[in-house]
Amino acid sequence: MTQRFAILGHPVAHSKSPQIHAAFARAAGIDLTYERVEPPLDGFAVTVARLRAEGFRGANVTLPFKVDAFRLCTQRTRRAEQAESVNTLEFTAQGIEGDTTDGIGLVRDVEGRCGRKIAGLRVLLVGAGGAARGVAGPLLDAAPARLAIANRTLARALDIVQLYSEASQLSALTLGELPQHQFDLVINATSASLSDALPLVPPSVFASGALAYDMVYGKGQTPFLQLAASAGAQTSDGLGMLVEQAAEAFHHWHGVRPETAPVFRLLRSESPA
Ligand code: ATR
Repeated sequence: MTQRFAILGHPVAHSKSPQIHAAFARAAGIDLTYERVEPPLDGFAVTVARLRAEGFRGANVTLPFKVDAFRLCTQRTRRAEQAESVNTLEFTAQGIEGDTTDGIGLVRDVEGRCGRKIAGLRVLLVGAGGAARGVAGPLLDAAPARLAIANRTLARALDIVQLYSEASQLSALTLGELPQHQFDLVINATSASLSDALPLVPPSVFASGALAYDMVYGKGQTPFLQLAASAGAQTSDGLGMLVEQAAEAFHHWHGVRPETAPVFRLLRSESPA
């Protein structure tokens, strides 16, 4: 029987998830449909109830509903509890299971496609909103030598640090403190690239041979990536993270880990960096 899935977002027209899941399903020989659904901003729970009633098996969730999804779940994975965010729903007879695959998607892309083992690296995460919170736990699990979270508003970075109080390699910094530090991996998790804001970090934060990773995609070379390239760093946008988080959601539902490289190449050809 055909299994039904959806991506829930507002807006959702831009989402590449239907294309990605259709490609994974073709390769795995799984019969499914995967559609875009745009709940009203105040109607997430009602929309989920409708999908369950119609027999959907699960859904992905994107902006601005990841916290709504977290609240709605009756059961959550440890990483979803840590992130207080859910991007993958599974509808079961007992209720709604929630997982977040964003953080593991980032780690897989950095370690796989970008070829940087995070263990032992000095890592800087810039930003302390939902996107940063969603990836902090999996980054720590990858055993960096240090993980610093720098944010315009220091209190939000400190909130994330407090969540992992047992992690001695984790600290919070103001943006103003960055000239005194260097990192091997610098991740932009702010929404600044979306508004083409000026670069957030000084060029001196990039250690020799560093990788600069912007979690956004489809924006070309953001000011952050331009600055990093001119400072001699290798750069990556977040397209690979998108494909890897989808692969992890696919694994959650189907128990099959799809090959991601062909799908990444296809999307890259449609959306050059
Ligand atoms: P998201 O869910 O995408 O993370 P968010 O929770 O609104 O969105 O968080 C946005 C993040 O981008 C925050 O870290 C924000 O910094 P503040 O906490 O100080 O608001 C950061 N941000 C957005 N625009 C920025 C800018 N122009 N300069 C620096 N930081 C910016």
